[in-house]
Amino acid sequence: MSGNYTTMIRKVLTGVLTLASAVVLISSCGKKDANSPGIEYMPDMYRSPSLEVYNQNWLSSDSVGIQTVGMRLPVPGTIPRGFMPYPYPNTTEGYEAAGRELKNPVPLTPEILEQGADLYSKFCIHCHGGGGGGDGPVAAKLPGPPPAYYGALKNLPEGKIFHSITYGKNMMGSHASQLSQHERWVLVHYIQKLQHSKDAQEPGASAVDSTKKVVASAAGVKGKK
Ligand code: HEC
Repeated sequence: MSGNYTTMIRKVLTGVLTLASAVVLISSCGKKDANSPGIEYMPDMYRSPSLEVYNQNWLSSDSVGIQTVGMRLPVPGTIPRGFMPYPYPNTTEGYEAAGRELKNPVPLTPEILEQGADLYSKFCIHCHGGGGGGDGPVAAKLPGPPPAYYGALKNLPEGKIFHSITYGKNMMGSHASQLSQHERWVLVHYIQKLQHSKDAQEPGASAVDSTKKVVASAAGVKGKK
C-alpha cells in the first residue's frame, strides 16, 4: 500500500514538475529579443495571409488561390495599350533590316527639332558632345569614344540610328527604357541634323550653334556662369 502511495506521490510530483518547467520554458521564450512575439500558437490570427502586391508567385505562374495570387506573368503575347513592339531583333541581321526598312513616322517640324535638341541635351550630349563630334565629357573616359555623327556616322540611315538608340551599341547602353519610341524618332531627326551640321552652305550648318545654345541653357540651369 505504502509503495502505491509513494508511486502516486512521485507521479503527481513528476506531473507538477513537468508542468512547471513547461511554463518556465514557454514563458521564457522570446525574452532575448524585446520585439519577438514569442511562440505563436495560431500565427494566422496575428499575421494576415494576404500577399504584398508585387510578391513573387511561389507556386506556379498561373495558379489561383489567396496564397498564390501575387504578381503574375502576363499572358504570352500581351502588349501594353498604345505600345507597338519593336519587331527587329538585337542581331546584325536585325540591325541591317532596320536600316533598310524603317522609316521615321514622326514628321519633321521646327518644334520636333527643338524637342530633339532638348532630349539630346539630357540623354546623349555627355557622350556625343554638343555638336555630335563624340567629344562629350564622358566620351573621354570611354575606351572608345563615339564616332562623330558628321564623320564616320554621316551616312548612317535613320533605321539604324533608331535601332542603336533602342538596343544600344557596344559601350552605348540601350535607351529603350528611358525614351518612348516617339521620343527616339524625334531624336533621330535631331541626329540627322547633326549628321549634316558640317555640310558647307546648308541650312543644317547652324545645328552646332543651336546645340551650343542648348548646352548654354543647360549649364545655366546648373547655375554655372
Ligand atoms: C555612355 C555614353 C553614350 C551615351 C549616353 C549615348 N551614346 Fe551613342 N554611342 C556611344 C558610343 C561609345 C558609340 C559607338 C558605338 C560603337 O559603334 O562601338 C555610340 C554610337 C551611337 C550611334 C551610332 C550607332 C551605329 O549604329 O553605329 C548613334 C546613332 C548614337 N550613338 C546615338 C545616341 C543617342 C541618340 C543618344 C542619346 C539618347 C546616345 N547615343 C547616348 C556612347 C554613348
